[in-house]
Amino acid sequence: MTDTPPTDAPPEAWVRIAATSDLAGKRPVIPVTAHGHKLVLFRDEEGQLGLIGRYCPHRGADLCFGRHENNGIRCPFHGWHFDRTGQCTEQPAEPEDSTMYKAIRQPSFPVTQRGEEILAWFAATAPATLEEVTE
Ligand code: FES
Repeated sequence: MTDTPPTDAPPEAWVRIAATSDLAGKRPVIPVTAHGHKLVLFRDEEGQLGLIGRYCPHRGADLCFGRHENNGIRCPFHGWHFDRTGQCTEQPAEPEDSTMYKAIRQPSFPVTQRGEEILAWFAATAPATLEEVTE
């Protein structure tokens, strides 16, 4: 896990935020703080990585303590569910025909894996291809 201090402008580069071994085990969910963002990094049931805002947009519960299920993270407080893109996919207490969840999205950042490293892109520009990563 990396705790990178905030900077005025994030680099236009992929930034190492974790090692793949950090997500080993039965519950691949860890907190990450980088470039002023408090985030949760997880691997979903499809094996894809998600890097989304750490605090639930409902009442601010810490999603690092959420349930890793249904291909995402379920908030431990009232059960809102978020996928790897940060999209809310379920609000259990809402009426069955409610579509409010579609308007709720956590901040998220591009994240990828290169060998044993997990890299994220924080710049406002489109991510470079991994071939453009400089050491
Ligand atoms: S605080 Fe997350 S669903 Fe209420």
